[in-house]
Amino acid sequence: MNVLIAPSILSADFARLGDAVAAAERGGADLIHVDVMDGHFVPNITIGVPVVKSLRRIARVPLDVHLMIEDPDRYIDAFAEAGAAMISVHVEALRHLHRTVQAIKALGAKAGVVLNPATPIVALQEVAAEVDFVVVMSVNPGFGGQTFIPRSESKVREVRALLDGAGNPAPVEIDGGVDQHNIARVVAAGARIIVAGAAVFNTPDPERATRELKAAALGAVPSAVSR
Ligand code: DX5
Ligand code: ZN
Repeated sequence: MNVLIAPSILSADFARLGDAVAAAERGGADLIHVDVMDGHFVPNITIGVPVVKSLRRIARVPLDVHLMIEDPDRYIDAFAEAGAAMISVHVEALRHLHRTVQAIKALGAKAGVVLNPATPIVALQEVAAEVDFVVVMSVNPGFGGQTFIPRSESKVREVRALLDGAGNPAPVEIDGGVDQHNIARVVAAGARIIVAGAAVFNTPDPERATRELKAAALGAVPSAVSR
């Protein structure tokens, strides 16, 4: 698998989401990352199922829906039905993570498991063979435009090793504070899905920012271990 760029619309103008998605797609976005927040699991409220449904109608690339909500089991079928191709859930929010991963897959979506910065990767171990992707949070979830937590780079390597040990080629996604300066390093560490919010949409030209991030990411893939 090559490196996929997933612009996060969290930093876009919510009154013009269609334009934001189109600009990111012109710049080569492979996925659109949608941050769902409930004001409980994280201290912020964003968007929900109806917006995903509308985005699905206009987006040409798959939607990567990141659920930062309490009790995500209650909502995964609605997000899958709304058109989420990928649904990721936080291990910190789930008592029965294995069941939730199976439920997402049964709905026909790719199942991702997300680790907060303070969550050790051992939390993944028992589902490592089951997941379709793993998201390493490189900021504390809740807001766009935060600073990348440096420890996340080695955490990506450790998650990659855990998945490899389980015989699972599932990609590692990194989410938070990724920009033109650090993207090559996270790719070199093994991340293959790169979320970028502020680095795309807090710029005058999101299309160009997406293109430049993608070029920097692709330039950092060691050909021998491209995945
Ligand atoms: C943070 C979100 C991220 C956020 C990333 O809670 O999960 O997806 O949008 O934005 P940047 O790239 O600005 O850190
Ligand atoms: Zn996210």
